[in-house]
Amino acid sequence: MENLPGTTPPRPLVVGIGGTGRPGSATERALKAALSAAETAGTEVRLFGGQFLAGLPMFVPGRGVQGAAVAELVDAVGQANGVLLASPSYHGGVSALVKNGLDHLEHLADRTRPYLDGRAVGSIVTAAGWQTGGSTLTALRSVVHALRGWPTPLGITINTAEPVPGDGGQAARERCEVQLCTIGWQVAEFAVRAASSRVTAGAPR
Ligand SMILES: Cc1cc2nc3c(=O)[nH]c(=O)nc-3n(C[C@H](O)[C@H](O)[C@H](O)COP(=O)(O)O)c2cc1C
Repeated sequence: MENLPGTTPPRPLVVGIGGTGRPGSATERALKAALSAAETAGTEVRLFGGQFLAGLPMFVPGRGVQGAAVAELVDAVGQANGVLLASPSYHGGVSALVKNGLDHLEHLADRTRPYLDGRAVGSIVTAAGWQTGGSTLTALRSVVHALRGWPTPLGITINTAEPVPGDGGQAARERCEVQLCTIGWQVAEFAVRAASSRVTAGAPR
């Protein structure tokens, strides 16, 4: 797309999807931290958090776009150059709230860039312990693959259980912050490139 003389090109868009309906959701706070890093890196960001996702209807195949909120989500992801996802580990897997939001992306199937094609996608998982963070992160990244996205090199699991006094909790929080900044930056860096150069020659139909 060409820009008019004297106008600045729109910034690449990074969309964040995730959180829980719980006020103060740690998952959503982690997502916001990563989004903020993507914004610092020069992208526009848009958040679809837990409250928004909780207002979406359950995806029903064949029913078309089920309302204005679904259309808003689908259009934003359709325009996005990068995506950040954040889910709590619920019973060892991705939460239904987040998965339902992702199921609605089925409406991107027929776009020129279907689903998450051509977009870097960073995945963040929170869990109240060490056991299921890894399996949930693997599941979330498998969803990204299925949707043709490009998982970032870094994926993050955060143990939100209370740190034991004296165990270096502050240092752990600082390391976590660095990781969230890194994943936000990785998505933004790829998003900026994706927005400026897309190879269409030879692309399979
Ligand atoms: C229904 C439910 C199921 C959960 N299942 C697990 C689980 O299998 N493994 C785990 O480590 N934590 C589990 N948790 C804890 C949450 O993953 C953890 O507290 C998370 O950080 C909550 O995110 P939030 O602060 O954004 O609500 C579960 C919590 C709920 C409410």
